[in-house]
Amino acid sequence: MKGVILAGGLGTRLRPLTTVTNKHLLPVYDKPMIYYPLEALCRAGIRDIMIVTGGNSAGDFLRLLGNGRQFGLKDIYYTYQEGEGGIADALRLCEHFAEGQRICVILGDNILEDDIGPVVERFERQRSGARILLKAVRDPERFGVAVLDGERIVRIEEKPSVPPSPYAVTGVYLYDPRVFEIIRGLQPSGRGEFEITDVNNAYIATKELEYEILRGWWTDAGTFESLHLAATLVESRRKAPEVVTP
Ligand code: DAU
Repeated sequence: MKGVILAGGLGTRLRPLTTVTNKHLLPVYDKPMIYYPLEALCRAGIRDIMIVTGGNSAGDFLRLLGNGRQFGLKDIYYTYQEGEGGIADALRLCEHFAEGQRICVILGDNILEDDIGPVVERFERQRSGARILLKAVRDPERFGVAVLDGERIVRIEEKPSVPPSPYAVTGVYLYDPRVFEIIRGLQPSGRGEFEITDVNNAYIATKELEYEILRGWWTDAGTFESLHLAATLVESRRKAPEVVTP
């Protein structure tokens, strides 16, 4: 399976930190933010990776990551998103790279504790469709929120003022090749973006969206509070005492 990291957009919620540099190059504890999604894909055994960047300092990704040798990769593919057309607009740029294969997409500002390798394996065994990861959070109104009916996911609402559940849709998405056909049929949302939530709702409409609930911690790092939280969570993991088996 191929991997995609979406690191476009302008990071306006983090200004002035992002006035002259790219959000995904900012530090999260002891590493640049982009390292975390890249390491998550590598840990899951994904070797073909495309980074979609945009906005400021796009060339610095190349200077920082090069061909990905330090991550055990042979090369990394890069592309550039003009403007801030939304997550689905950034993903649209990866159709050629995907070559009709399944893809594992991760947002460049998402940091998670769990190894997503087993999720990737379960998606490989899934007949078709898409698979997303949910996490119960205290502030679901900041995210896409899953509406559940028993075990079934019936809808996702993007940043609802009254959250229908505590389950945020995290920025890890696994898609079959139909995703690009779905994106072609999207209309921009009220905020003028092509929404990934509309893509996921299209898969729900054909009963092809599976979900899992993350066990470990998860956060985005796109606001001052969540950027700080991300650094704290990473620090706690680094400092966690090693489990020594007698
Ligand atoms: O973090 C998970 C959440 O991410 C989901 O729960 C939401 O459903 C989803 O819409 C998204 O919400 P945000 O409003 O937090 O997304 P944001 O605009 O901050 O973008 C997240 C990442 O997506 C960003 O770090 C880079 C990438 N992106 C975003 C935009 C708008 C792009 O590559 N291009 C873009 O145009």
